[in-house]
Amino acid sequence: MNTETELLKSPSELSLTKVIPLSKSPTLRNNFMVIDGDMKANIRFGLLLEIMDTLAADTARMYVHQFYEDAVVVTAAIDNVVMRNAADIHKDLFFESRLNYVGKTSMEVGIRIEQQNPTIHIATCYFTLVARRGPIDNRVSVELEPLEYKGETEKRRYKKAVERKENYFKERNMDNEMPSKDEYEHLREMHHAQESPEFNGVLASNLVMESWERMFPAYKNPNHTIFGGYLARRSYELSAMCAELIATKRPVIAAVNRMNFINPVRIGDKLLFKSHIVYTNSAFICVETVINRIGRHEKKISNLSDSCLFTFLNVDDDMQPHDVEKIYPTTYFEDEKYLQAQRSLTSIMPAIKNGILNKDIAD
Ligand SMILES: CC(C)(COP(=O)(O)OP(=O)(O)OC[C@H]1O[C@@H](n2cnc3c(N)ncnc32)[C@H](O)[C@@H]1OP(=O)(O)O)[C@@H](O)C(=O)NCCC(=O)NCCS
Repeated sequence: MNTETELLKSPSELSLTKVIPLSKSPTLRNNFMVIDGDMKANIRFGLLLEIMDTLAADTARMYVHQFYEDAVVVTAAIDNVVMRNAADIHKDLFFESRLNYVGKTSMEVGIRIEQQNPTIHIATCYFTLVARRGPIDNRVSVELEPLEYKGETEKRRYKKAVERKENYFKERNMDNEMPSKDEYEHLREMHHAQESPEFNGVLASNLVMESWERMFPAYKNPNHTIFGGYLARRSYELSAMCAELIATKRPVIAAVNRMNFINPVRIGDKLLFKSHIVYTNSAFICVETVINRIGRHEKKISNLSDSCLFTFLNVDDDMQPHDVEKIYPTTYFEDEKYLQAQRSLTSIMPAIKNGILNKDIAD
């Protein structure tokens, strides 16, 4: 442990920046673009998730290592990323991280992405990380010293972080809540419609995409497990392709509702990424990706690993939204996912409306 005088304990001291110099490097631009042509929002969002995860872990580690040099930090969750503006592939990307909150063993790091001339806010993202110690197979969470919140801004960010944490636990409980009367009526109508001989709607069960992957050492983080950012990127990329199953134009990311990393993934594990379109509303397409894992020495899927929900917007070349068909859930599982996505989209809609899209399409 460092001596008391050297400790960094206020959020303003626990901040890192990173620049991706897209304006100067054709090679970087080539790596970050979605297609090799002119297109608005021509940036691979999955790569931004990866960069942010690494920066968040570096920021949290800076704090934790002052108290426990042998501790690791793991990403527990990525919360509500709402896209504010489309990024321009010809301009540099600026990332700034800050430790907003320290709980008993968890921390929240906020990251803001901007471009300049003029200053454009691309997105802000919140990562929850947990400090852990011990042998790789038996790590336990470790208690952290509290952070010192000094100015008004630091206190406000602290309060917001606490609210986000409380909201997450509240919404997690809500996921298992019975449907409200309106929700029940809506589902009943959708099931009823499917019983008609003339029914020709789009079934949720047909809107699925999956992909297997082995985890190689190249994807490992300093904790010798797989980077949360890598899983986030792969989940995003499959979700975006899945969204194309129903998009009439182009699905661009509007928000990452929530991503939880429940179990660590090890080198040699085989992962099954499975994306489902779970809900649509006007131009919005909600895709849930679940990651199942087969451990290196195991023969069958051992446990549910992680899940994430992405909201896409179906837009034309000028980024104008276009409605997509509504989808019909059939099974109990699809009903449940439909309602969870509907509730989640409703809760982040005010933020999305201030974000990337035409403000009144979801009314
Ligand atoms: C994150 C992880 C350690 C939490 O395990 P756990 O058994 O819930 O641990 P604890 O009960 O000790 O919780 C630790 C803290 O994390 C918080 N937490 C855990 N999961 C969370 C989530 N999804 N969102 C927000 N906070 C979370 C708890 O509230 C607690 O906070 P506090 O101590 O500040 O009050 C565990 O789920 C894990 O190992 N996940 C995989 C992490 C990983 O490898 N990530 C990289 C990508 S695979």
